[in-house]
Amino acid sequence: MAVLEPFPPLGSAGERQISAEGFALPPGYHLRPAQASDAAAIRGLVWRVRINPLGLDWRRFWLVTFEERLAAMGQVKPHAGGLRELASIATEPAHRGKGLAHRVILILMAQHAPPLYLTCRAELRAFYQPFGFTELGPEEMPPYYRRLWGLARLLRPGGREGGMAVMRWLGAPAKKSPAEAGEERPEAGNV
Ligand SMILES: CC(C)(COP(=O)(O)OP(=O)(O)OC[C@H]1O[C@@H](n2cnc3c(N)ncnc32)[C@H](O)[C@@H]1OP(=O)(O)O)[C@@H](O)C(=O)NCCC(=O)NCCS
Repeated sequence: MAVLEPFPPLGSAGERQISAEGFALPPGYHLRPAQASDAAAIRGLVWRVRINPLGLDWRRFWLVTFEERLAAMGQVKPHAGGLRELASIATEPAHRGKGLAHRVILILMAQHAPPLYLTCRAELRAFYQPFGFTELGPEEMPPYYRRLWGLARLLRPGGREGGMAVMRWLGAPAKKSPAEAGEERPEAGNV
């Protein structure tokens, strides 16, 4: 039986809370909001996995820890015009494939009302689709993302497969938890 850590109160954005119970973490892993003392570890992971190093205010981050060290993380980052972006999703290589990034994404989606945007390398589209994110064509992108997407194409031509994808979650249901989907993770123990 999953042992739930206390969830912070969900604001008005959090009405569609995603099953925290269903998506259990393996034993020894814990989900919590970041603290000021986590800022250096957050920056360190960002640099190691080479994702966008801008906008890393620890106050927005949720972390999964193992033996009190950062294992996975993510944030929702605000942009001008009220746009909000699921960002800085990363898992330490030694902890990958255990559902940690999924768990971080689910808590962030539970706490922020749609729409949420994200940008990712094209090969990661399939990673985000089960959460309800769909890829946007340039005509659907808010101007901020259209500019970014255009810049990425200039820097790395090669069409849809090689470049950057812009995705949006409009509130469609997230992927079911493994338990809900009847495919229990054998190692799942606590949250
Ligand atoms: C992408 C990343 C965050 C995944 O972290 P993770 O904790 O291993 O992810 P989870 O364990 O929650 O999920 C792994 C699942 O995603 C799938 N997945 C991973 N990469 C994928 C990809 N490129 N395309 C499709 N699915 C992918 C795995 O097959 C696995 O599926 P399964 O659970 O059905 O077996 C991690 O590899 C990472 O930190 N990469 C470097 C940083 C990065 O690229 N971040 C994304 C920025 S947009």
